[in-house]
Amino acid sequence: MTIPAPDEPALAPGLEKLDWADIPALVELERILFPGDSPWTAEMFWGELAAGNHYVVHRDSAGEIDGYAGLAVIGIEAEIRTIGVRPDRQRTGLGRMLLQQLIRAAGRRRMLLEVRTDNEPAIALYVSEGFTRLGIRRRYYQPSGADAYTMARLR
Ligand SMILES: CC(C)(COP(=O)(O)OP(=O)(O)OC[C@H]1O[C@@H](n2cnc3c(N)ncnc32)[C@H](O)[C@@H]1OP(=O)(O)O)[C@@H](O)C(=O)NCCC(=O)NCCS
Repeated sequence: MTIPAPDEPALAPGLEKLDWADIPALVELERILFPGDSPWTAEMFWGELAAGNHYVVHRDSAGEIDGYAGLAVIGIEAEIRTIGVRPDRQRTGLGRMLLQQLIRAAGRRRMLLEVRTDNEPAIALYVSEGFTRLGIRRRYYQPSGADAYTMARLR
């Protein structure tokens, strides 16, 4: 039996920890979900896993990844690195399930994230789970030059 380490809560049913072998599928999803905003590369995901960050994936009935999310714990704060749901599976509750997993993984830490100011679906999701706007970062996303809100969730 594996005893979860502190900060590694039990996974919600249907979620799995990200495995190295899943990285190419995530790179493909990033290209679809974040065109024009420097989608993450395999090297970036390797770095996240090597750093021990908390990454989870969800699979469809065919075993293909249809959702993923990642969290980095930095001292007393926890930063949402990425969260994405395959377009054909959006609006089915998967994004909320993934976000709630990250919230559990953050424990009592303050959570932070950046989100494009025009990303209404993501902002609505974050607000509904207790995040509020802290400020704005101009031209945060490249090469699009889009602005980002910084959002936080307190315990
Ligand atoms: C943001 C994202 C992860 C949401 O995932 P999802 O699985 O579609 O979300 P859910 O079905 O769990 O919906 C949860 C809540 O999000 C909000 N939401 C989701 N899609 C929305 C839309 N198209 N318009 C408005 N609100 C939306 C709603 O508040 C919704 O709650 P409700 O269904 O009770 O109204 C998904 O749209 C996505 O992958 N987008 C592209 C990648 C991205 O922008 N990631 C975030 C980067 S910061």
